Amino acid sequence: MPFRTIIEPFRIKSVETVKETTPAYRRRAIAEAGYNVFLLPAADVLIDLLADSGTGAMSAAQWGALIQGDESYAGSRSFYRFRDVIQDLTGFKHVIPTHQGRAAERILFHTVLKNGDVVPNNNHFDTTRANIEVEGAEARDLVIPEGRVPSLVHPFKGNIDLGALEKTLAEDGDRVPLVMVTVTNNSGGGQPVSLENLRGVRALCDRYRKPFFLDACRFAENAYFVKVREKGQEGRTPKAIAQEMFSLADGCTMSAKKDGLANIGGFLAMNDDAWAENARNLTILTEGFPTYGGLAGYDLEAIAQGLLEVVEEHYLQYRIRSIEYLAEKLEAGGVPMIRPSGGHAVYLDARALLPHIPPVQYPGIALANALYETGGIRGVEIGTVMFGMKPDGREEPGPMDLVRLAFPRRVYTQSHVDYVSEVVLEVARNAAALPGYRITSAPRVLRHFTARFEPLAS
Ligand code: F0G
Repeated sequence: MPFRTIIEPFRIKSVETVKETTPAYRRRAIAEAGYNVFLLPAADVLIDLLADSGTGAMSAAQWGALIQGDESYAGSRSFYRFRDVIQDLTGFKHVIPTHQGRAAERILFHTVLKNGDVVPNNNHFDTTRANIEVEGAEARDLVIPEGRVPSLVHPFKGNIDLGALEKTLAEDGDRVPLVMVTVTNNSGGGQPVSLENLRGVRALCDRYRKPFFLDACRFAENAYFVKVREKGQEGRTPKAIAQEMFSLADGCTMSAKKDGLANIGGFLAMNDDAWAENARNLTILTEGFPTYGGLAGYDLEAIAQGLLEVVEEHYLQYRIRSIEYLAEKLEAGGVPMIRPSGGHAVYLDARALLPHIPPVQYPGIALANALYETGGIRGVEIGTVMFGMKPDGREEPGPMDLVRLAFPRRVYTQSHVDYVSEVVLEVARNAAALPGYRITSAPRVLRHFTARFEPLAS
């Protein structure tokens, strides 16, 4: 193409009005929500970047597929379509639908973990960690050292540290029932994992006879990064790269709310017959019969179609570029963030932007609330509130204090992104005046969803 502009590779058939509110209105709304953006009514949000999960726009082909949904209790035609699309992509023998990613995690971990086990990963996402810890096991983060330094540029910051993984397997191998790698690495900034790194994990898992599972939520975004950043991969399709990623693993957990381009759903897939049988039995207990797993037939159709669309190269090019476009504007304005930008989100470095707020006074909460009050934008803290509470009840600073601006798929346009950059730059200019926060109430597990806060006198 002779033109430089990367356009949204779709046209809009159906629109949803968003509500403008005043700063005074938003200050009241966030106070009523206990200064926790999770507790805001979505109708009070102008641009909602809380999550890229289940928030995407479905295509006309997906809406069309819904009516094809076969709602038979067992053996539905939609299940076989779902299974066939997933098997073509992943090659895994057993495919078990679940209502979302964390259900796949719970079923997997409850079937294979016992007290005292260790699960290595690049970085566990919060639900993955919680589902491991609830079994009395340890969720061990082994991302490469570069992945822990927000400002450091590296093409595959999501890579797992193969030396550290080998050490874990050598020293604690008898307590490791499986190795996981999250693609892309959400908690580490939506950063990709290279094929070379996945091959290294495979080799170690072969040597130590361990099954290797992908947390595959954003597999297509990862495959696109491999295509444009990994030597020798540029001539391949994202789908072929994704197929190779899956071929290196023995199974995966998947939230179809991300790269399934669906509003709900997920799956657990694997090759091992015995594990799959146990997983199916547990699925019946908590999700439903294993050919629907908590989903309607029409959900299975939407996911099957979404998995075909998500590996389209133009879609992925627009997707990755729109995030990078925001990151470039913010970086030009001196806003600290994880560089390079991730596949689904820009991660602002609240700890660096607000050095006057110590981690245990939650700089990420301060920044997220300021973005909402200033411009009606909702992002999410990924920091000390999310990761600082240890299973024994101690609180320590999280590995980083970030605010993630995660973009729903195919929802916002370039002018929305321009607006977001204006608001973030305005908040950054006034950063020194933002107060820290204290928690007034919180549950012990996954506290970030429902904790309530109050600002400290600044
Ligand atoms: N793994 C990763 C890497 C995730 O990002 C998520 C969800 C899950 C597992 C769980 O999937 O939500 O379908 O149960 N991440 C969402 C987010 C919630 O906002 O990043 P789920």
